[in-house]
Amino acid sequence: MTSEELRKQFLDFFKQRGHIIIPSSSLLPSDKTVLFTTAGMQQFSLYLSGKKDVVKDFKARHLASSQKCFRTDDIEEVGDDTHHTFFEMLGNWSIGQDEDGYFKEGAIKYALEFLDLLGLDKDRLHITVFKGEGSVSKDEEAINLWINNGIPKERIREYGKKDNFWGPVGDTGPCGPCSELHYDRGEEYGCGGANCGPNCDDCKRFVEIWNLVFMQYNKNEKGEYELLSQTNIDTGIGFERLISLLQEKNSSYETDLFKDVIKKIEEVSDKKYLEYKKEFRVIADHARSIVFLLSEGIIPSNVSQGYILRRLIRRSIRYCKLINFDFNSFYSLMDLIVKKYKDIYPEVLSTDYDVVRKEEEKFNKTIETGLQRIEKLLLSKENRTITGEESFDLYQTYGFPIELIEEIANERDFIVDKKGFEEALKKHQEISREGSEKKFGGVASDSGEMGVKYHTVTHLLHAALRKILGEHVKQMGSDINTERLRFDFAHNTKMTSEEIKKVEDLVNEKIKEGLNVQKQEMPLDEAIKSGAIAFFKEKYGDMVFVWTIYNPETKEVFSKEVCGGPHVDNLKDLGMFEIIKEESSSAGVRRIKAILK
Ligand code: ALA
Repeated sequence: MTSEELRKQFLDFFKQRGHIIIPSSSLLPSDKTVLFTTAGMQQFSLYLSGKKDVVKDFKARHLASSQKCFRTDDIEEVGDDTHHTFFEMLGNWSIGQDEDGYFKEGAIKYALEFLDLLGLDKDRLHITVFKGEGSVSKDEEAINLWINNGIPKERIREYGKKDNFWGPVGDTGPCGPCSELHYDRGEEYGCGGANCGPNCDDCKRFVEIWNLVFMQYNKNEKGEYELLSQTNIDTGIGFERLISLLQEKNSSYETDLFKDVIKKIEEVSDKKYLEYKKEFRVIADHARSIVFLLSEGIIPSNVSQGYILRRLIRRSIRYCKLINFDFNSFYSLMDLIVKKYKDIYPEVLSTDYDVVRKEEEKFNKTIETGLQRIEKLLLSKENRTITGEESFDLYQTYGFPIELIEEIANERDFIVDKKGFEEALKKHQEISREGSEKKFGGVASDSGEMGVKYHTVTHLLHAALRKILGEHVKQMGSDINTERLRFDFAHNTKMTSEEIKKVEDLVNEKIKEGLNVQKQEMPLDEAIKSGAIAFFKEKYGDMVFVWTIYNPETKEVFSKEVCGGPHVDNLKDLGMFEIIKEESSSAGVRRIKAILK
């Protein structure tokens, strides 16, 4: 079975059983407290906690998806059999109850039925359940259900919170005890230990394939678990793991997902995958992640998602060097990835390779001298420690991400004084860091002239969307840098290309008219009464600024918003506005990326 077939079989299976198939949401979650989407349930969080009505918005309480995910904890682990940065998760949900909602029993039955359909031997399935810990008691119900559904007691193991309680994604939110299905690949993969079983630390005999979360709790700000008003099912299959199992491979890098990429690396480097597994896998994994991060409009920088992208590109450059893989051919690996995923996640077609080229140029200028400098340092040391100042110099002068310095040092049994590095970084960068992280009404306050222009054009976009799509459009979030704007707004359906064109035209028309921008200070309630729209995710003081964009001759108002600013005085120098992407951000929320030319 190919990966395409598996994805389709999973979605078809649940579709045939009354589930609505929901497209993957963006890798950039609407919940700004987390950097990336790490699980399929994130876009349903408000429905799982009962704050929004799933039936109203989706016409069903049973949903399924294949979701793009990205985890940053594992970047240095990539290279072994199983770790990835980008990966996919297949999931099914039953959100809240009525007569047709299902909970533990339904989830268990579906899981067993689907794995049977795939031809996996039920006698090799081992199950883990929650044994009870803290205020949440043992999941007897799940144990009995597994037994009733044909899994003998000896193949059911109980674990605590670390293994069998899932969520929340951030600090607070829906969560619950879970049950996992593990597949026994056979004794030949085992460590032979007396305690060997699911979650074994010493071998890879048991592969976790499916996690069924029984979401019944909300973790609140005090860290307490309170019962939700509804019960839910949230499940997740690690797609890469399941496809490896079905194709009888030890690692997803050996499945059809990466076959062409690995072959290409062999050709270009004239090296064998089997001799350089780690290097091949890092390059393959990162090429895929870089494609997906770029397709979200992320660009390399020194903070948040941009910093992760920078790390991945620079780490790839170093790994390509290690096996003499000409980095010019990295772009053909990206091509192969785009080709492999374009039918499922068409946004990969918008991948801008130039962003990588620019980053490559930057790093190429310093990487050789930087590597030589590290070499010298390592040779000159007796205490096997690179100091904070030394690592900061490598970071500052040669552009080596600290994690990459650590990795190189560790390969040679050296350590880096990370605390010393943080202190040096703080000392040298206090001012600029503060600047780039301090948010001001959704805009970085140091973003300069372009940032200010994007900030103003965000107001034009908001007003234009409300005029073209309707007054239900509301800002849900925004992010601005010097190269583009991103705008999330409440709206249920994909915009047609006609609607996109109309919005662009309207914004450009207003720019051409050279409307004025006026700032007034007033109390918040007065601002609202005067018809200004406010973005209530922001916290406002009693007194606020209202920005009005209007025609100085006719006095006709195009946009009026409560906002901290800053803004341009007049629209005439903004340039040409263009929407480069319109996509789903999360359930009921669309995301636009736009630029000024
Ligand atoms: N949300 C669960 C997970 O990510 C299914 O494992």
